[in-house]
Amino acid sequence: MRNKPLEQVYSNYTEEDFEVWALLFRRQMDHLQQHASKLYLDAIDRIGFSAGKIPDFAETNKVLQAATGWQLCVAPELVPQDEFFRLLSQRIFPATCWLRTMAELDYLEEPDMFHDVFGHAPLLMEPAYATFMEAFGQLALQWLDHPGALEQLSAVYWFTVEFGLLREENEVKVFGAGILSSVGETRHALSDMPAKFSFDMRRMMQTGYRTDILQDKYFVIDSFAQLCRALPVLEASLKALSATVETFAVL
Ligand SMILES: [Fe+2]
Repeated sequence: MRNKPLEQVYSNYTEEDFEVWALLFRRQMDHLQQHASKLYLDAIDRIGFSAGKIPDFAETNKVLQAATGWQLCVAPELVPQDEFFRLLSQRIFPATCWLRTMAELDYLEEPDMFHDVFGHAPLLMEPAYATFMEAFGQLALQWLDHPGALEQLSAVYWFTVEFGLLREENEVKVFGAGILSSVGETRHALSDMPAKFSFDMRRMMQTGYRTDILQDKYFVIDSFAQLCRALPVLEASLKALSATVETFAVL
C-alpha cells in the first residue's frame, strides 16, 4: 500500500525518491527544451526546480507567493471537485507530495508529485495563467449543482490546463501538465497523429475526451490572455445550457 502523506516531511524522502525525481526531470527537460512553451521554460527556471532536488513546498510557496500569490497545498490524492474548485478560486493548487517508484516510471494510475508539481506548478508563476486559473475556479464554483455544466467545465480544464498546446512564433508548443509530465504524451501530442484544433471555447466545452489513452485531439491556444478573454463565453454558454434544462423541466 502506497504511503500518501498529508503533509510534506522532507526528511522522509528516500534515495529512490531522489533518483526518480532526477531521472524524470532530466529526461523530460531534454524533450521540453525544444517542445515546451517558452513561458513554461522560463517559469520552471524562476520557480527554481532542478534535477538535484525534490521541490520543497515551503520554499516553492515563498517564490510563488511573491510572483503571483499562488500557493501549493498538500493533497494526498485527487481532491473532490467542489473542494478543488474552491482551492483554485483562492489561488491554492492541491498537489501530491509522494513520488512514483522506479518500477512505475512510465505508467501511473493516479497523479503523483512529478505530474502535480513539475507539470502544474511552474506556470502558476505566469501572471495571465495565474489569473485564468483563479477565474476558472471562481466560475466553476457557481456550477457545482449542475452536472451538465461541470462536464463542460471539466472539458475546458482538460483541453487547456492538462493537455493544452500553445502557438508561439508559428510553432506549436506544450503547456498542459499532462503532456509536460509525460515523455510519451509529449512525443505523441506534437506528432502528426492527433487532430489539432485552433482554440474555440464553444467547441472545446462540447468536445468529449478519454482519460485512459494518449489523446487523439488537442486544442492550440494563442495566449493565456486569450483563455481569460474567453471565460465570459464559457459563462454565457453555461447559463444558456442551464436555461434550456430548466425549460425542459417546466415542460
Ligand atoms: Fe493534473
